Amino acid sequence: MSSKAAKKKTSKKKTAQKRPAIKRTAAKTELYASLVAQLRGLLKGEYDFVANAANFSALIYHSLPDVNWAGFYLLQDDVLVLGPFQGQPACVRIPMGDGVCGFAAKQGETVIVPNVHEFPGHIACDSASNSEIVIPLFDGERVLGVFDVDSPTLKRFDDQDAEGLNELVTVLAAHEEGLDE
Ligand code: SME
Repeated sequence: MSSKAAKKKTSKKKTAQKRPAIKRTAAKTELYASLVAQLRGLLKGEYDFVANAANFSALIYHSLPDVNWAGFYLLQDDVLVLGPFQGQPACVRIPMGDGVCGFAAKQGETVIVPNVHEFPGHIACDSASNSEIVIPLFDGERVLGVFDVDSPTLKRFDDQDAEGLNELVTVLAAHEEGLDE
């Protein structure tokens, strides 16, 4: 092997080590596949965002085990404003960058928090929450808001939940843009 080829091989290996494969369980794979199918059914023919986001929140809240809050915060100017949700009443306005929601919106990335009490700046809306996952909602490159799910159990959310919830949020966003017709 030439030294160039050897170098290539080494750097490939490094990249592979940086991104460990998602550990999936059959039960979660099945659950998220079923949720995607149910969501597509709920969205069919309806393009009112509030109605669709409300049904989205209800579907997740009632289908994911061990969850005490599920809902949207939608970006208005530089503030996330409470949108359709299920669970206890929650804080209405979260400035961009604040809390887990503001952090995820600012980064434009999914954030998994295994223990919310250890997340600097976490905003406690429901004292029952111990872990959280926040998924940004996009219109193309633009962040429209976030979908937030809380659990009373520490370390409730893993990479497979992130993958499944991202797929669901993407289905909703594509539907709103008319990309799934
Ligand atoms: N914990 C969130 C605030 C929203 S509630 O959990 C519903 C945060 O830190 O941004």
